Amino acid sequence: MSGGGDDGRGVHVKSSGRDSATLAGARVVVNAGPTYEDIDPVRFLGNRSSGKMGFAIAEAASLAGAEVTLVAGPVALATPAKVVLRVDVRSALQMRDAVLEAVRGADIFIATAAVADWRVAEYSSHKIKKGTRGARALELVENPDILAEVAALDPRPFVVGFAAETERVAERARKKLERKKLDMLVANLVDEHVGIGADDNAVELFWPGGSEALPRASKLEIANALVARIAGRFRAGRHA
Ligand code: CTP
Repeated sequence: MSGGGDDGRGVHVKSSGRDSATLAGARVVVNAGPTYEDIDPVRFLGNRSSGKMGFAIAEAASLAGAEVTLVAGPVALATPAKVVLRVDVRSALQMRDAVLEAVRGADIFIATAAVADWRVAEYSSHKIKKGTRGARALELVENPDILAEVAALDPRPFVVGFAAETERVAERARKKLERKKLDMLVANLVDEHVGIGADDNAVELFWPGGSEALPRASKLEIANALVARIAGRFRAGRHA
């Protein structure tokens, strides 16, 4: 697409000069934070995701003019001022339902959430006592891949996935981009200073036919840069 105006999906996107990265009128869904998979009334399986990156992206997209729905796992974060709707969930299955509902008619889905890969096969409605038969070997079942499910929708939004990688970043990122049929993948470089739970992030973006590294910066700065890149690729059209 060139020039401003309707992009054929009923979205008005500005596209000239300094406004080239804005998301005016676009409907964006962001999921963020961990999911908690309950084992019994007092225990759960979780992870160390803080949700900060996803909330920063939701804020940056809102400031770029998007109408943002934020689907949040259990996090201790205030809703960014301009976010239109926040849906709080706990488990991967709840997050999946909320995301599938929110992406109906959406233009862009940004999957920053650290969705638990597994949940317990059977939730115990009473507290599991020490010494109970089976308590030492929890049976786990795989959770659905929310990102892959959204990417398989028809019609589907522009889909951006995240991946935490510590090594062979480009090779793994390219494989994930293809396997999950994503429009863009953000590889999160994880070490003791950046990534999960930290205030800073260093990422590398991959899309079919290109990549770009964004050096270490605060999650807010990274979020702004990411939203600008996502807006650019979205506008250019996923088949460009
Ligand atoms: N994701 C998802 N649903 C899941 C698991 C992951 O939507 N059940 C999404 C995450 O939100 C993220 C991306 O998929 O956008 C992460 O992909 P994944 O393949 O899980 O990558 P890693 O966590 O890096 O795991 P690994 O490479 O070990 O498979």
